[in-house]
Amino acid sequence: MICTTIHSITAPAAGRIKGPAGALLTIILPIGLFFGSSAAAQEVDGERLFRQRCAACHNIEPGQTKMGPSLLGIIGRTAGSVEGANYSQAMQSSGITWDRQSLETFLTAPRQMIRGTRMTVSIPDGAQRAAIINYLESQSPD
Ligand code: HEC
Repeated sequence: MICTTIHSITAPAAGRIKGPAGALLTIILPIGLFFGSSAAAQEVDGERLFRQRCAACHNIEPGQTKMGPSLLGIIGRTAGSVEGANYSQAMQSSGITWDRQSLETFLTAPRQMIRGTRMTVSIPDGAQRAAIINYLESQSPD
């Protein structure tokens, strides 16, 4: 008798609290997840892209050549000028001094800019190119 009384009081009370709160969470959680993930996707991280797309062949340490030359201080550097790097003739005789604009053109389509280059990796996405170039620009030797 006592048990059924308590039960009949608490059960509806719990139902009233859980119901709306549960419904509210069901609405708020997906909204939070949606905005959270789309904000992360919009922020293009140049350092992460460099690690993913470039670091297999380039590092950012002075004078350390992998398959490609170190890209430390690439802005303002003459193309094909790192001592001991394994450059193509095309790169060495390109006459380019790397700046934001030439890097932009090169990374869009390397072989269209320098016929015969050994660097074939392109970054077709403009926002990703800009992020990588920003990162490279931030990594100067001094
Ligand atoms: C598969 C290996 C590989 C990957 C990945 C790669 N590169 Fe290269 N890169 C090279 C090679 C090899 C050269 C030398 C090309 C030549 O001499 O023709 C080079 C040359 C360059 C140069 C000219 C360097 C100089 O000293 O003149 C730049 C700038 C460059 N790469 C940027 C990048 C960026 C930025 C990325 C990432 C988006 C990248 N590379 C990804 C292999 C690669």
